[in-house]
Amino acid sequence: MIIAQISDTHIDHSAPDADRRASDLARTIADINALDPAADVIVYTGDIAHGGRPVDYEHVVSLLRLARAPVYVAPGNRDDRENLRQAFSGWACLASGSEFLDYAVEDFPVRLIAVDTVTPRSNKGEFAPEHARHLTGLIDAEKTKPIAVFMHHPPYVVTVGPDPLNFALAEDMTRLQQVVQQSARVIAVFCGHVHRSTAGRIGQIPVLVAPCTATSLRKGNYPPHMQTRPVYHVHRFEAAYGFSTQARIVAAATDKAVDSGTERDNPEPAERLRSAASAVRAG
Ligand SMILES: [Fe+2]
Repeated sequence: MIIAQISDTHIDHSAPDADRRASDLARTIADINALDPAADVIVYTGDIAHGGRPVDYEHVVSLLRLARAPVYVAPGNRDDRENLRQAFSGWACLASGSEFLDYAVEDFPVRLIAVDTVTPRSNKGEFAPEHARHLTGLIDAEKTKPIAVFMHHPPYVVTVGPDPLNFALAEDMTRLQQVVQQSARVIAVFCGHVHRSTAGRIGQIPVLVAPCTATSLRKGNYPPHMQTRPVYHVHRFEAAYGFSTQARIVAAATDKAVDSGTERDNPEPAERLRSAASAVRAG
């Protein structure tokens, strides 16, 4: 099973670099489409639209319809939960009646569980006791398959960023750590928010943080020839070994494909996306 992870696209039609951010997402989707072996699924770990506006989500959805693999999203602090829910209303991954955009995806050898860590009270994450009960219910709903959890805010102390604590309250982060460690079936956590590629652990569970897909907002030192090349994570699962993660540099060949409209003119992936989304069980 191959999971492609993108994060922190910050699509914003009013930003001075709006075209670059959109191009970074389009080229990343084109690169994922060209993976061989193919990606089975794309997880999108938040800060999808910088201001959470409907017009920007419409743009994102128009680009995601070109993806050949089904896409599942978790909100980030820059997202607007209700506008995001509205924009993805036709996609079963967000067709939840619950307050949180938490859900489980049951279609793969590894269960995927999205965790909504967003709060209007802070740019940092929140994870209240009632949320913990909800996530525990999602984890316990199936007892046989391994689980990869994905969310925006990394729930561990990230020492490479400007602020090591990405939750408003340390007790919330501890609560989230406890919930994912309650089940030995949780084998990985995938996050964004920090805008750079890094990794940590919750006990024995590896936590991988994907870099910012928007190259203009990415942190870290990249050489000049890399500064406009998006980087995303490819998580490959094998039953005997668990996950291995590759930081994948978007190939220059995708620039031409996107610019020439080759990707835009292919309607087939959108149909596949809609049908794949129908099998999701929302929490
Ligand atoms: Fe971000």
